[in-house]
Amino acid sequence: MHWQLEKVELMKILVTGGCGFIGANFIKYYLATHAQDTVINLDALTYAGNLENLSLVQDDPRYTFVKADIGDAPTVNRLLESHAPDAVVNFAAESHVDRSVTDPEIFVRTNVLGTHVLLEAALRHKIGRFLQVSTDEVYGSLGATGLFSEATPLAPNSPYSASKTAADMFVRAYSHTFELPTLITRCSNNYGPYQFPEKLIPLFILNAHGDKALPLYGDGLNVRDWLYVEDHCSAIDTVLHKGTPGEVYNVGGNCERTNRQITETILKILGKPDSLIQYVTDRPGHDRRYAIDNTKIRKELGWEPQHTFETAIEKTVHWYLENTDWLQRVLSEEYRDYYEKQYGGR
Ligand code: NAD
Ligand code: DAU
Repeated sequence: MHWQLEKVELMKILVTGGCGFIGANFIKYYLATHAQDTVINLDALTYAGNLENLSLVQDDPRYTFVKADIGDAPTVNRLLESHAPDAVVNFAAESHVDRSVTDPEIFVRTNVLGTHVLLEAALRHKIGRFLQVSTDEVYGSLGATGLFSEATPLAPNSPYSASKTAADMFVRAYSHTFELPTLITRCSNNYGPYQFPEKLIPLFILNAHGDKALPLYGDGLNVRDWLYVEDHCSAIDTVLHKGTPGEVYNVGGNCERTNRQITETILKILGKPDSLIQYVTDRPGHDRRYAIDNTKIRKELGWEPQHTFETAIEKTVHWYLENTDWLQRVLSEEYRDYYEKQYGGR
């Protein structure tokens, strides 16, 4: 066994996917809360990754950016060799369910094969902790009642969730077979600043602000369990430092809302009419309801979410209104093509 349970003093962490929505929020949170630590950010800068998300820390001597693909084994190994981080936190992924329906292959390459490359490299370089940022979607869909616990059987329904589940299974296997000190977090839906505007909340803020239709899938009654991104960041930090290797921790804030409720909230904050809602053809295989039982992380590790939905959604809407220049810059030609394909025929 090459790790110690008590080794929780991390000095240097390698974060993958740090230029995306949660990764960028996490790096800023981590540098602000761990004054002595350093962060290396490995990101391939796909359509979802944006260096500007980290402009606030780009000159911080404790922060290093490396443009690379997690599937590129020689580069990943070189990085672990030269920087010798104490921990790896893997955010890097293709993250959008709709894209996984139209183009599943890249999800297999990045989410499954990429995670495997990281696990192999972490093992070879005896990394002290490997934290896999996973999702509640690995549990599939709930009916009207019940919650996902860490013991809920895995039953992914989309190519995205299948790829995340496969990655979790490799993480589990590397812990079990090779005693790599792994941790898995499975969080519910996040919202907050810097989320790519293909996801429900930023997309609907953007469209409503521009008096464009809000394409609500199906009957609009699918339920998601929403968590402000900073609370997810604090949960990952908590698990990284206090979690027991080999364990899985669900993360969620007990905040179930139907998509229709979310849409109405956004319209109300913006003072826009409900007539902007447009019911469109449902997402194929659309999971009906997600809801997280967060007892384990609260009771065992003492984590609690700090934000209420009412205040954090208001803050989020205002962030997007104040950052329309950021929105314009991330809305590339590739994204405009995607939007036309995704919503043009609905
Ligand atoms: P995102 O799509 O905003 O960002 C993904 C980042 O990964 C981007 O910076 C992108 O450039 C990078 N990336 C993609 N492929 C890569 C590759 N091959 N090599 C290196 N970097 C690559 O995603 P997000 O919403 O920030 O999600 C981050 C992680 O959290 C994902 O693993 C996702 O499954 C998980 N997660 C997301 C949510 C959510 O609500 N957004 C909830 C639970 C878990
Ligand atoms: O639950 C965690 C997951 O949450 C993460 O693992 C994923 O990376 C993240 O993208 C998110 O997945 P969802 O599919 O739940 O998020 P999305 O924002 O795409 O959709 C939220 C809900 O809104 C879902 O029920 C589909 C619906 N929706 C979405 C879009 C983009 C619409 O009705 N219309 C839309 O245009």
